[in-house]
Amino acid sequence: MSFSANTSGLAAQDSRCQSMRNFVNELQRSGQLLHVAAPVDTRYEMSAYLAQLSSGPAVQFDAVEGHALAAVGNLFNSLPRIAHGLGTTQAAMQQRIIDAIDKGIAPIRVTDGPCQQMVIGSPDLKKELPAPLFFPKETGAYITAGVIFARDSVTGRGNVSFARIKLLQDNFGMVGIAPNHHLAVMARAARERGEKLQIAVAIGNHPAILIAAALYLRLSDDELEAAGALLGAPVQTVACRTIDLDVPAHCEIVLEGTLDIDVQHEEGLVSEYHGMYEPYGSGPVAEFHCLTRRDDALFQIIQPGYYPEHTLIGGVAIAAGLARALRAAAVPVREVAVGHGGCGRLNAVVSLHAHRAGEAKKVMFALWGSVNLIKNVTVVDDDVDPWDATQVEWAVATRMRPDRDLLIAPGARTDRSEPIKQNGLASKMGMDATRKDADRPDWDRAVPPPDMMEKVRAKLAGAGDLDVADNGRGLDGR
Ligand SMILES: Cc1cc2nc3c(=O)[nH]c(=O)nc-3n(C[C@H](O)[C@H](O)[C@H](O)COP(=O)(O)O)c2cc1C
Repeated sequence: MSFSANTSGLAAQDSRCQSMRNFVNELQRSGQLLHVAAPVDTRYEMSAYLAQLSSGPAVQFDAVEGHALAAVGNLFNSLPRIAHGLGTTQAAMQQRIIDAIDKGIAPIRVTDGPCQQMVIGSPDLKKELPAPLFFPKETGAYITAGVIFARDSVTGRGNVSFARIKLLQDNFGMVGIAPNHHLAVMARAARERGEKLQIAVAIGNHPAILIAAALYLRLSDDELEAAGALLGAPVQTVACRTIDLDVPAHCEIVLEGTLDIDVQHEEGLVSEYHGMYEPYGSGPVAEFHCLTRRDDALFQIIQPGYYPEHTLIGGVAIAAGLARALRAAAVPVREVAVGHGGCGRLNAVVSLHAHRAGEAKKVMFALWGSVNLIKNVTVVDDDVDPWDATQVEWAVATRMRPDRDLLIAPGARTDRSEPIKQNGLASKMGMDATRKDADRPDWDRAVPPPDMMEKVRAKLAGAGDLDVADNGRGLDGR
């Protein structure tokens, strides 16, 4: 398969484009993939590579000591990479995701897929998977890029989400799920019916599936339909071998099992997106009866903790969901950002088109009500790129009056992952950094005339060796 320079091909209809390895090959061709050929240790060494290169190239570990499979990480560690993986641009990505939520495409089952080229019964997970030990205070190796598929046996609706899996002995793993996540809700509902919840963990996925898995949708919504819309075609699935679930046919590895919330494992400390460790206590144990995989499966790793791939996959999905919620509330939103600086979870920046007085406060309340994790909300005008921290800081410096434009809401119930919660509560802060007519007679910016800027830009570009992509644009440089 080949890609042209202006390709949007990764999301095209070709079924091969539903794989992660297609993107890995694309990175290889464009010089964005570092191969580590020398053997690496799963104990901290792979983690150290991914941490050192957390904003750099993707990394493929060709030889992992004691393991047959190669591993790959840092694939989607920047906004342009995520956008490219989705076959779009950074500027168009948020609307693409919103459209995908609104107009899902149901998956289609195919008879066979590469993720079932090999079938291994009762897999010894620590032997089969080159899962790293990441950080010194964690107590085991983790699968961090596992997308978990489940279905409610009564409603029939599916759910797709991320949760870390700590490898235990033999074919057991602990699934680290926040109690409010839908997977946990489904597992509790199954127990009330006297059932164990069937789960399938797909590892090595196309970014459409990763972003869909990170969306906060309603319990009744199946994220796989959003993934299909992001792909522009139904996700091709295959029936699992031992359980009644379907998984993406083109992923790399699948674990088939059951989750029993009556069997708990004390996890010990675990890293969180904010960069510290959390003591979440115990988590439910899954037994995996079967592992299927490609013959030459690539084990995907998302460096956990405060590293950009972990924060941004979540941040991109959450931001799109928030923008959609604001539009539904008739807020004139240009774009929402939930960037790496705010851990991809805690801080949101909303840029608004022309709006009326009080709209910024409405935005704050809407965001706090929409996603529990969101703590600090900054509202800016549409000449500010909300993903650009310097531009946002400029807006706060030049347009916000702290005595008037700051809203602090103490004592709001928050998520268990909030790093500085007190008794489950956190203060929330909103900053209105939009222009107010009352503050100045005019807001004109002192910049050279547009025609002269354009003329000089063309001359500089003609000079050939100068990168003028961002020069002179600054704010409002869309
Ligand atoms: C890379 C990544 C890793 C994640 N790991 C976990 C995790 O270990 N446990 C968890 O509860 N949520 C985790 N999340 C968040 C959930 O996957 C996310 O909130 C998801 O939308 C929850 O699904 P639900 O809407 O079906 O409840 C992670 C998100 C990302 C992007």
